[in-house]
Amino acid sequence: MWRLSVPLLVLLAAARGRSQVIDGGSNASGGVTGYVGPEQVDLMGELLYIDTHMGRFWTVRDVDGKLTPIAQGYQPPQRDDNGKDVVPGTVVVIPCYIDPSGTCIPVPGTITTILSATPIELPVKDPIYQRLLVVIFDYSACNMTATLTPAGAANIWLGPNGDGLGGVAQKFTQCSFGKLNLNATAFRAITVKRNCSTGIVQACSWWLISNEGDAAAKEQLGVNEFSTFTHFAYVVPPKMQSVCGWAGLALLPGKQIWLQTSSYGVNRWATIMQESIHNYGLWHSWRNGWEYEDYSTAMGRGEACPNAAETSRLGWSSPAAGGDAIDSSILTAPGVALTFNLPATYITGDGSYLRVKPDWLPGYGDSSLAKNLYIAVRVNKGGDVKLGLEFMNKVNIHEVNATMVSQFDQGSRFDPCDALTE
Ligand SMILES: *[C@@H]1O[C@H](CO)[C@@H](O)[C@H](O)[C@H]1NC(C)=O
Ligand SMILES: *[C@@H]1O[C@H](CO)[C@@H](O)[C@H](O)[C@H]1NC(C)=O
Ligand SMILES: *[C@@H]1O[C@H](CO)[C@@H](O)[C@H](O)[C@H]1NC(C)=O
Ligand SMILES: *[C@@H]1O[C@H](CO)[C@@H](O)[C@H](O)[C@H]1NC(C)=O
Ligand SMILES: *[C@@H]1O[C@H](CO)[C@@H](O)[C@H](O)[C@H]1NC(C)=O
Repeated sequence: MWRLSVPLLVLLAAARGRSQVIDGGSNASGGVTGYVGPEQVDLMGELLYIDTHMGRFWTVRDVDGKLTPIAQGYQPPQRDDNGKDVVPGTVVVIPCYIDPSGTCIPVPGTITTILSATPIELPVKDPIYQRLLVVIFDYSACNMTATLTPAGAANIWLGPNGDGLGGVAQKFTQCSFGKLNLNATAFRAITVKRNCSTGIVQACSWWLISNEGDAAAKEQLGVNEFSTFTHFAYVVPPKMQSVCGWAGLALLPGKQIWLQTSSYGVNRWATIMQESIHNYGLWHSWRNGWEYEDYSTAMGRGEACPNAAETSRLGWSSPAAGGDAIDSSILTAPGVALTFNLPATYITGDGSYLRVKPDWLPGYGDSSLAKNLYIAVRVNKGGDVKLGLEFMNKVNIHEVNATMVSQFDQGSRFDPCDALTE
């Protein structure tokens, strides 16, 4: 666990919303142009990643949970002082100017200091019971009324009986074989009525949404109750669809997701699952070079459980006996068949896939070419009941960047993409 040193926190808070003339000149009416900019702050917290579907940003989450986006183009250092890869979740200090939108503009010529490299939370070892708070924004002050109610949210996440045996909770439990669950008792949904801040209702600023949502929730529930939640979902009103270019957003890794009140947003379990899984460090699934185009998984555009490459990464599944590294030492003679029995993945995660490492291919030693294959049987039952015709009752094969897999095995990298092949 890391702690924020008080002086830095004060500095960050003090600089918010205050601008000062940094050098020379006066304002426009004075006729002299000078650089008018904000004060420099040291932004400290976990370095996280967000894909807004209109651009990818790094962001910093401070010890109070406040998010500050970092201007596009920022690149964190690749390695820390100990030579370890810098991964999302690392705790850093970045010298920034905070612009009027609240974005950190890294101060030119300064460096990001790494305070501690926290490991990515994958694979999941112990079962997780998320204590989720759903914050529903009501902006009726500017005619952007919430249509989702707390009861409606409970229905979506916990199912019609509010017991976690239906809804998103059931899908989590089914797809993860009990590794990812919602604590139905701890679940809470609240509506917060706010004044319409321009940054949110006109610019769909995700960091303002979460920062305001947290502030409003703390007001309503009290700081103590607020602190009992482990995960947060922010639902914006239907009229925000014309302002925001996404159905759902998530931090990677993180504890927060954002959802539109729309059929592809909060009303679609697979969107909620995708965003929730981003929080554990997994990216989208690809097909034929296209991001999202994998319809066999919620991490693409499917209404289905994650695929075998993903469930193995998440710690939700294991390979069949002898099937973890099928390479040239196992596939010794051409034309000689090997036999494995694979259960359909909806039944169990145990022994449910094969991983082929085609080390006999000339390109396997080349990190820009090497790929591993994940082979699994998919059937449209259980969590996969809505799996499409193209994939159901079939052996599915996914290819995964082998470099990333091996880096992941060493605990240092997350996997950005899986590509589905047939
Ligand atoms: C410019 O500066 C003058 C003198 O400090 C001040 O009176 C004026 O309000 C300023 N104008 C703007 C647009 O900030
Ligand atoms: C508020 O929204 C409703 C429904 O979209 C619309 O009919 C009405 O004119 C709006 N009112 C204002 C004040 O914009
Ligand atoms: C779920 O939350 C309740 C209420 O806070 C708590 O008593 C219980 O231990 C939690 N269950 C699990 C499995 O985390
Ligand atoms: C909303 O605006 C009103 C009027 O400007 C103000 O009195 C109130 O404090 C504001 N509420 C919040 C939560 O900011
Ligand atoms: C795999 O990922 C590495 C590291 O990001 C990259 O350099 C390489 O080009 C990728 N290989 C393939 C086959 O996509």
